Amino acid sequence: MKFFLLLLISISLNVIANGAAPGDTQIAIETQHTALVIRVSKDGDPTIIHLGKRLQNGADYALLPDNEKHGEDYTKIYNSVYTPAGGRNLLEPALQVSHADGNPSSDLKYVRHETQNVADGVVLTTVFLKDPQYPFEVKLYYKAYQKEDVIEQWSSIRHTEKKTVRLQKYASANLYIPAQHYYLTHFHGDWAREMNPEEIPLTAGLKVLDTKLGTRADLFQPPSFLLSLNKPAEEETGEVIAGTLAWSGNYQIQFEVDPLRNLRLIAGINPYASEYMLAPDKEFVTPAFLFTYSNAGKGQASRNLHRWARKHRIPQGEGNRLTLLNNWEATYFDFNEEKLTALFKDGKKLGVDLFLLDDGWFANKYPRNDDHTGLGDWQENKQKLPHGLGYLVKEAESAGIKFGIWLEPEMVSPKSELYEKHPDWVIKLPNRSEYYFRNQLVLDLSNPKVQDFVYGVVDGILTKNPTLGYIKWDCNAVIYNAFSATNPNPSHLFIEYVQGLYKVMEKLRAKYPTLPLMLCSGGGGRVDYGALKYFTEFWPSDNTDGLERIFIQWNYSYFFPAIATCNHITDWGKQSIKFRTDVAMMGKMGYDIVVSKLDEKELAFSQQALQTYNRVKDVIWKGDLFRLVSPQTNDIASVLYVSEKQDKAMWFSYLVGNRYREGSQAPIKLRGLNPEKNYKILEVNVYPGSNSPINRNQMVYSGDYLMTVGFNPSVDARRQSVVLEITEGN
Ligand code: GLA
Repeated sequence: MKFFLLLLISISLNVIANGAAPGDTQIAIETQHTALVIRVSKDGDPTIIHLGKRLQNGADYALLPDNEKHGEDYTKIYNSVYTPAGGRNLLEPALQVSHADGNPSSDLKYVRHETQNVADGVVLTTVFLKDPQYPFEVKLYYKAYQKEDVIEQWSSIRHTEKKTVRLQKYASANLYIPAQHYYLTHFHGDWAREMNPEEIPLTAGLKVLDTKLGTRADLFQPPSFLLSLNKPAEEETGEVIAGTLAWSGNYQIQFEVDPLRNLRLIAGINPYASEYMLAPDKEFVTPAFLFTYSNAGKGQASRNLHRWARKHRIPQGEGNRLTLLNNWEATYFDFNEEKLTALFKDGKKLGVDLFLLDDGWFANKYPRNDDHTGLGDWQENKQKLPHGLGYLVKEAESAGIKFGIWLEPEMVSPKSELYEKHPDWVIKLPNRSEYYFRNQLVLDLSNPKVQDFVYGVVDGILTKNPTLGYIKWDCNAVIYNAFSATNPNPSHLFIEYVQGLYKVMEKLRAKYPTLPLMLCSGGGGRVDYGALKYFTEFWPSDNTDGLERIFIQWNYSYFFPAIATCNHITDWGKQSIKFRTDVAMMGKMGYDIVVSKLDEKELAFSQQALQTYNRVKDVIWKGDLFRLVSPQTNDIASVLYVSEKQDKAMWFSYLVGNRYREGSQAPIKLRGLNPEKNYKILEVNVYPGSNSPINRNQMVYSGDYLMTVGFNPSVDARRQSVVLEITEGN
């Protein structure tokens, strides 16, 4: 009774504040173009009544019907903001708990909400919910990034019941989206073939995207998707939501077309094998679900996420990145000091900023000479590197480049001193035989001692080598036989592993805020905005075949910006070095080749390309991306990056099919330029000895012309990749 009185008072306070109809409260979470509107019914049930374009007049939200569709919602909570299980709910819940007294039901009533400006252009709305029968509360957080049109939402759960409450499902987000039809693009893959899109119409019932792999969680399916409303969205047209869960472990995203043919979306940690025992007065905070809504196609949705990521998420997202020469494919495990110091000079000759020493530099009792041994023993291998890392840092610096290393600190080889000393730090089941992924096992990061060990490894190396310029952080195994020998709650392992990883990263970032860190996971097995809070860049795939990469990079680009996408030129694939270089330029460029094997022209081309890249990289990294021609449905691919000031653009086009006379048959219409400005087009990355037909006649085009009529980059079998630099000028 007391609770209901309080509820009434708080509702009426909010009603006064929001000027809505008596008995109803509208909570509008708005960005520049988007609104998510919550309505609290007279009974205190919070529901979603709008998700889409923002209405010009906020008062109009009060006019929105409770449900736009004909038909009966028997429960009146199909569109709950956080659907509780066990009561009158008939559909997928966002929350399922067993209370201290064993009651398996919950009810969540609105208590109040508050809105704060937490940073320039960032508004946080918190909605407080409570179970009327239990001292059990849920807070829903919605952080609205105004300019970027991105909403980040998460929830927290707390109670003061007499004993532990068992959380069986605890979603981050529960959205409700009414439309006539829904088209989901999700992505699947495996090692070296990451991010293959599949678009499907959603039919009545449930479609689930998830992973149960624990670590390297995105190996088969990343937590990112595109959802088109009413009809499949195109690049420049259509309504689309781009969503992704910021979590580096097991996730579950559910799409449920409900009996009214509205779409219910529930995203969060995967409840699989993850019951969470919540003690009284402790708070469980879920990871964040991020989404952006666009009514101007997928292109706009991507640009929103890119801007948001650069400005608000990725460390130094608007800063610099280092070009590098990696030795993995050049040497694999077979190197010594002499070989490496020669490679430093090669790197300098090529013109990169840094040399990255990959796997194989560590372990002595069980030397890391192949991928069966040594993980966990992070001491320099005395045979390969008798003078240690410090010597290499100095040698690289005196050759004029920085030095970085590969680490895989979450892992352990069965043959390692670490495993011998600390078998209880390893994730495994005592009565099952060990089963390996890439011949290795995963350390139990839910154990604080393991967290200290991992932090200590990285901090130790950085303390000893303060000018070490880069770390490639790998994670090559999934979790088999999931069990922690030390965790009092074995079902917390999957969750506390990721929390443990984030704790380590948090501590490392506090001490080393500007260190460039590459997020790698046997290729692209871990690419999400949870980890990208700490990492400056990610490795999309071990597959660096130029042609394959066009597709892989295209598909990552729906969600992640070029500045964070590491692309290396290697010996994979049959394409020319020009083709592979042009492809790698569409992101953060690096090399993994034997420089001394390049012929004169190849070397001259590469040196020139690096100089061009240094001149134009800011346009690629910080510009707006326009995907002009899709390789999925065409024989060419074409991608444009336009600077925010619209004074510069970089345009990349490729031949991806090999049918007779395929190529860019007609002009391609550009996007994102200023129609009022004039532009010149110059072909760059022209291979020594060849001529560019484009550079023969230097013409001036208006932005209007280039966007209305277009321009033909002249891609064909003889010109399989073309890079054009577009500059404002008369
Ligand atoms: C993973 C990475 C590679 C390389 C190897 C080293 O496969 O994706 O780039 O670092 O590990 O073992």
